[in-house]
Amino acid sequence: MQIHSSIPELRAALQTRGRIAFVPTMGNLHAGHMALMNEARNHGDCVVASIFVNRLQFGPNDDFDSYPRTLQADCEKLAAAGVAMLFAPTEAVLYPEPQQYHVEPPAIQHQLDGEFRPGHFRGVATVVLKLFNIIQPQAALFGKKDYQQLMVLRNMTRQLALPIEIVGSETVRAEDGLALSSRNAYLSTSERAEAPRLHRLLSCLAAAVHAGERDFAKLEREAAGELDQNGWKTDYVAVRRQSDLQLPQGPDEQALVVLAASRLGAARLIDNVEIELASSH
Ligand code: PAF
Repeated sequence: MQIHSSIPELRAALQTRGRIAFVPTMGNLHAGHMALMNEARNHGDCVVASIFVNRLQFGPNDDFDSYPRTLQADCEKLAAAGVAMLFAPTEAVLYPEPQQYHVEPPAIQHQLDGEFRPGHFRGVATVVLKLFNIIQPQAALFGKKDYQQLMVLRNMTRQLALPIEIVGSETVRAEDGLALSSRNAYLSTSERAEAPRLHRLLSCLAAAVHAGERDFAKLEREAAGELDQNGWKTDYVAVRRQSDLQLPQGPDEQALVVLAASRLGAARLIDNVEIELASSH
């Protein structure tokens, strides 16, 4: 695997590579990331990964400084997975001057996770557009665990007419249902045992919607209440439509998703479950 930290070197190396499938990451790679790398092979001749812990998407009280940085181990995993090239720039390479031009996503950037992480989606969209410009992939893959991020990036790519296919990849879970995440490392042993409750509750909520329940506010309240009774501090549980994460507008909405973010000890966990309702017509 080639490893590049300079933009001109990376661009030169990419010239003869055919269709590029790109997987951007912040490193500390787990099985969820590796599933993205494997799926990327189906979308290009050459899989390119990036590792960059992007300061722009972290708030002042977020875990930018403590975010796990494990470059050596990550490189070994990527090489073993057959990734052709890794772009691992320093901050000085990606942000050689203060970044004054940003991608400003629409109002959704201030809702759901955005309400609790001001500036996060602006920082994500800005760095991903920059990485897209550097790597110029034909396809890019993102995990569905970060559902709002995937939606923002998909809509950014469409509205800015970028010639890139955005692929959303299924969430990889531990056997007990917990979505894999670098932040699971912040859980103590007892918190790790409690953590699968989040996915269990979202699955129950989705099942209730399938069974015909349409009082979403009640379902959201009940799920958040059960989390909080078990030691969590819930930011939100929300049923939204998949396409733009706005409130479902009526009985005809069929593609829904329930999303949640909640804190358990030092870890802020997010998860979601898609709800596909059959047409009543
Ligand atoms: O999902 C992530 O790891 C990051 O938000 C991304 C897409 C690599 C941008 O920094």
